[in-house]
Amino acid sequence: MSIKRIGLLTSGGDAPGMNAAIRAITLKCINAGWDVIGIEAGYNGLFSLSSRPLTHQDVDNIIQRGGTILKTARCQTLKEDNGPELAAQQLDKLAIDALIVIGGDGSFRGATQINKFWPKPIIGIPGTIDNDINGTDQTIGFWTAIETALSCIDKIRDTADAFERIFVVEVMGRDCGFIAMESGIACAAEQIICKEIIENESDFLSKLYSSIQHAVTWQQTQSYVIVVAENALSISAQTLAQNIQSNTGVDTKSAILGYVQRGGAPVAMDRVLATQLGIAAVDALVQGKSGVMIGTLNNTLVEIPLADTGLKNTANQALIKRLKQFNFDLTD
Ligand code: F6P
Repeated sequence: MSIKRIGLLTSGGDAPGMNAAIRAITLKCINAGWDVIGIEAGYNGLFSLSSRPLTHQDVDNIIQRGGTILKTARCQTLKEDNGPELAAQQLDKLAIDALIVIGGDGSFRGATQINKFWPKPIIGIPGTIDNDINGTDQTIGFWTAIETALSCIDKIRDTADAFERIFVVEVMGRDCGFIAMESGIACAAEQIICKEIIENESDFLSKLYSSIQHAVTWQQTQSYVIVVAENALSISAQTLAQNIQSNTGVDTKSAILGYVQRGGAPVAMDRVLATQLGIAAVDALVQGKSGVMIGTLNNTLVEIPLADTGLKNTANQALIKRLKQFNFDLTD
């Protein structure tokens, strides 16, 4: 089957660099003589048939913009029993010959389901700040989120230092601790907490309190920063801060960085990665590939079956190893 019309959508949490991927895909497709149809607000745009052709002008001057010009969403309709079949029918209504999905593990699960009813090529590009997709070392947006978190935590460190306070800083990453780990290493956090390293929460917390107490007693540091991944503990960052204060007697504050981590201009690394993955996705279509995510492993482009993506479980071993390597703390 010859390809003439590509459908393109961004889905799930937006990530800085998605626009760079949209630009690369659009320009590469136009060069190949293909039309690119931007489907709006993720899979929701399929069900509502909200789409528009993308031109050179549409992707001009967007590489530096955060968010996604196509908008995004987490689509409920696709999760319903007949959702994937309906999505397949909608793709046919739009006369799409091949689909490129930029998103995370949930978006790829959706794509895999649609492919069962729509036997045309679908290619995935990993885009999420969480870097939690199996089969790729990097996802679009991760390094920008780290830089954003880092610049916030550095500022928190200044005030923590001035007051000689403890700070609990919560970062994103609901399923996986990569943002906590890399931002924590880069800001020299005294503690990095993610669920991958906690076997027993109450044991972990008692060790944490005594470790802080030790640092305070021996005046190891003027301030004490704890970077914690969202969902790492059963208690909130605020409660953790209160508990630390009552256990150690040291003034302790909390800050949740939240959605600020998803926005902003993508750093060079994300722009380059997104451009590279976008080009490779179109190349894969030219070569007749389907049902794969384009990722990078050891700095090499790879194609991983969409069905094998999912959340990074095994890679969490790498996370634990890396955390131990960089952990100067005593809770270990
Ligand atoms: O994009 C991934 C992510 O940032 C998670 O780390 C976070 O829990 C989630 O998105 C929040 O997304 P929503 O926009 O659905 O609240």
